[in-house]
Amino acid sequence: MNSSSPTISGTGNTPLSTEEWQELDRNHHVHPFVDPQQVKEKGTRVIVGAEGRYLMDSDGREILDAMAGLWCVNLGYGREELARAAYDQMTRLPYYNTFFRSAPVPTIELASVLANLAPGSLGHAFFSSSGSEANDTMVRLVRRYWDIKERPTKKTFISRTYAYHGSTMAAASLGGFEGMHAVGDLPLPGFVHVMPPYWYAMGEQGESPEDMGLRAARAVEDKILEIGPDNVAAFVGEPIQGAGGVIVPPDNYWPEIQRTCRKYDVLLVCDEVITGFGRTGEWFGAEKFNIEADFMTIAKGLSSAYAPISGILMTDEVYGVLSEGGVIPHGYTYSGHPVSAAVALENLRIMKEEGLIERVREDTGPYFQKRLRDLEDHPLVGEVRGVGLIAAIELVKDKETRELFDPMGTVGSLCHENMYDEGVIFRAMRDVLCTSPPLSITRGEIDELVDRARAGIDRTASELEMM
Ligand SMILES: Cc1ncc(COP(=O)(O)O)c(C=O)c1O
Repeated sequence: MNSSSPTISGTGNTPLSTEEWQELDRNHHVHPFVDPQQVKEKGTRVIVGAEGRYLMDSDGREILDAMAGLWCVNLGYGREELARAAYDQMTRLPYYNTFFRSAPVPTIELASVLANLAPGSLGHAFFSSSGSEANDTMVRLVRRYWDIKERPTKKTFISRTYAYHGSTMAAASLGGFEGMHAVGDLPLPGFVHVMPPYWYAMGEQGESPEDMGLRAARAVEDKILEIGPDNVAAFVGEPIQGAGGVIVPPDNYWPEIQRTCRKYDVLLVCDEVITGFGRTGEWFGAEKFNIEADFMTIAKGLSSAYAPISGILMTDEVYGVLSEGGVIPHGYTYSGHPVSAAVALENLRIMKEEGLIERVREDTGPYFQKRLRDLEDHPLVGEVRGVGLIAAIELVKDKETRELFDPMGTVGSLCHENMYDEGVIFRAMRDVLCTSPPLSITRGEIDELVDRARAGIDRTASELEMM
C-alpha cells in the first residue's frame, strides 16, 4: 500500500515534495544497480526536467549531465524535433509488428539508412529495444550462423574482464563482472573471459601500453588455442570498454585481435552500444580503430535515448548464411517499433545536419580531452584517458607507483557524490569517474564540467585526509 496517497495526474507530473517522492520511491520502486539500503538511507535524487546539457532536480538544482544520461542522450535534452517525430508517428501508425512479413515505413527506412552509415558491408539490421536484447540476439544468431555452416561445435564466446554487454542472461554472461555473474549463476556455459587492454591497472612495471596491448591481444589467441578454434564462435568487444571504466586500447590492440579472429575463423563482434553514433568523433568506434566487424550491436545514441531502440547489424556474408537457414525463430514484439524508428531517423538527420560528428572529431572532442587532462596535476588523479567525448579519471592512492585504493570503489563513490554536490554528474566505476557528455556540449560547458569535477575531487581529497 502507498504510504502517502498522492492524487495521480496520469502524466507522471504529480506535484509532490522531494520528501514525498523519496518516500514513495523507497517504498515501491526497485532500482537497477543500486543498493536498496542506500535508497532507504540517503533517498533518491528526483529528476523533474532537463534542457540542453542540464538536468533539473526536484529541489530546483541544475546539474550538468556529464554522462548524457547513461552514455546515451547524444543530442542533449529538450529537442522538440524528436518529440514531434514521435507524435507524428504515433498518430499515423503507433505500432505494427515486423513478424508477419510486414514492416512499418520508418523501420524499413532506418534499416537502409544504417546500412549506408555503417562501415564495410554491414548491410542488414535486426531491431530490438535495448542493448542487452541486441547482444542476446547476436549470441543466438552467431550460434545459428555456425550451425547453418555445419560447424555446430563453434559455440563458445570470448569476451573480456570488465566488459559490459548488458543485464540479460546471455549479455551478463558476456560481461566480465564477477558481481554480476554472482546474480543468476553466470556465466552460462560457453562464455569465457580474457584480460582487457587496461594498462593503468594491469600493466606491469616497465611495460608500455603498446606491449600491454599486445599481451592482452595474445590472451585472446591463447584462449582460442586452449579451447580449440573449432569450438570458438566469436570474440565480442566494445571498441572502448565503457562501463568497465573507459578502457581505451593502444593502437596495436585491435589490428592484432582482427588478425587473430581471421586466422582462426572466429567471428568478430563489435559492441557499439556506447561508441556508436559519434561518441569517438566517428560514426562508429570500429572506424576509429579500423575494425572490420562481422556483427555490430547498437542502441543508446541511435535515438539519443528519446525512445528505446537497439539493433544488430550484420554483414552481407553473415546475412547470406542466415538466409539459407529458413525462418529465423527469434524476435520481439517491439522489434522495429515504428515510433522508435521514426525518432531514430530524426535523430540521425539532426546529427548529420548539425555536423555533430565532425564537431566532436575536430573541435569539442580534442578540447574536452585537453581540458580534462589538466586534472592530471591533482594528487588524487593517476590518469585521465579517453577519446572524443568519452573519458575517465582514474583516482589512485599513489600516483608514482600506480597503486590503486584497497578496497576499490569507496573513494570513487565518495567522489561521485561530491561531484554531484558541485553540480556535475559523472559515473563511478570502482575508483574511476567516467564521463560521456551529450555530443552537443559547448566549449564553455566543457570548462564548467572540468571546474566542477575538480571541485568534487578537491572535496574528496580533503575528506580523505580527515579520515
Ligand atoms: C557496451 C554496452 N553494451 C550493452 C549495454 C546494455 O544496454 P541496455 O542497458 O540498453 O540493455 C550497455 C549499457 O550500458 C553497454 O554499455
